[in-house]
Amino acid sequence: MNILVTGGAGYIGSHTCVELLNAGYDIVVVDNLDNSCLKAVETTKRIAGRDFKFYECDLLDRENLEKVFIENKIDAVIHFAGLKAVGESTQIPLRYYHNNITGTLVLMELMEKYDVNNIVFSSSATVYGMPKTVPITEDFPLSTTNPYGSTKLMLEQILTDAAKANNKLSVTLLRYFNPIGAHKSGEMGEDPKGIPNNLLPYVAQVAVGKLEKVHVFGDDYPTPDGTGVRDYIHVVDLAIGHLKAIEHRADKPGVHIYNLGTGNGYSVLQIIKAFEKACGKEIPYVIDPRRPGDIAECWANAAKAKEELDWTATRGIEEMCEDSWRWQSTHPNGYND
Ligand code: NAD
Ligand code: UFG
Repeated sequence: MNILVTGGAGYIGSHTCVELLNAGYDIVVVDNLDNSCLKAVETTKRIAGRDFKFYECDLLDRENLEKVFIENKIDAVIHFAGLKAVGESTQIPLRYYHNNITGTLVLMELMEKYDVNNIVFSSSATVYGMPKTVPITEDFPLSTTNPYGSTKLMLEQILTDAAKANNKLSVTLLRYFNPIGAHKSGEMGEDPKGIPNNLLPYVAQVAVGKLEKVHVFGDDYPTPDGTGVRDYIHVVDLAIGHLKAIEHRADKPGVHIYNLGTGNGYSVLQIIKAFEKACGKEIPYVIDPRRPGDIAECWANAAKAKEELDWTATRGIEEMCEDSWRWQSTHPNGYND
């Protein structure tokens, strides 16, 4: 089976490509390298010990994207490509809508033209907005609090409508919780540009001495220690979820929706402690005010993915922090090292 991976040079995409190659799939990767670099593609090839075609191409560039469909027989698409920074999306919303939505529309139109009828889409727990209770199941009400989240929710709707209109199309919407961790080799990991927005890369950069201290956004939430609770999931577990989606849903037209999380919640302070254990250093932190738009707690009920995809996250928080640290400590400047 030949799988087109959009955004395959990015954090989750590159880890998924390694797992796809290891499992014997053929892949073609498309990425405009807006938030990634060629080294990630080379590292994927090296870790997996296999070659594949890489197209440096923007999804918005229909003519060039069409070449990918002309030159390759594609059986399925895993669609990671998109802009993902929540804060930035409030500053430049039009760029987010154009990139994420128009990019996906161009991709879907080409899939239709070349009779490709299987897509796995990177959605997010952000589509649950401010959930009233936890754990979250797939049938919870959907809403968003920022333009990035709105692109995900709109794309879920667009893909659902496309599946209604084409009875051959299989759409799998994977709602990720909080991916962290890195490949065991220490050669592949998250490489954020500039100062990280997300907790784990921030903590890792404090541990390695690039940043001074962690700013904990609020300790007055109604959680056991007052700090925000999230469902952190190892990026390799998440990657494997995509293989399971291809394996179990590719031949089933319609819309399939799954939470990909561990079902466990960890607070910001628990994460700092777990990372201290992994790196053997104390991680300084200060308590700051809440970050606007943040919710108190968010974790998944992932029973549906277990039942229908035969998928469960198996890597615990210690392993997530150890693997992040191996990558961060050997690559303080990411792929530039
Ligand atoms: P990432 O930024 O590392 O990867 C996304 C990749 O898409 C990048 O390599 C970028 O260069 C590429 N890209 C963006 N726009 C493109 C375009 N128009 N044409 C071609 N390539 C383009 O992000 P990630 O963390 O690997 O996330 C992958 C997907 O998962 C994204 O859709 C993201 O919204 C979603 N997601 C991420 C998280 C998270 O916390 N990391 C959580 C939920 C959902
Ligand atoms: N946090 C801090 N300090 C930081 C960064 C984060 O205290 O420097 C806290 C946040 O307040 C939150 C927790 O750490 O309680 C996790 O924050 P992240 O920014 O790492 O992750 P979010 O849960 O806010 O959001 C992430 C992605 C979204 C995605 C969501 C899915 O950024 O795109 O996970 O659950 F939708």
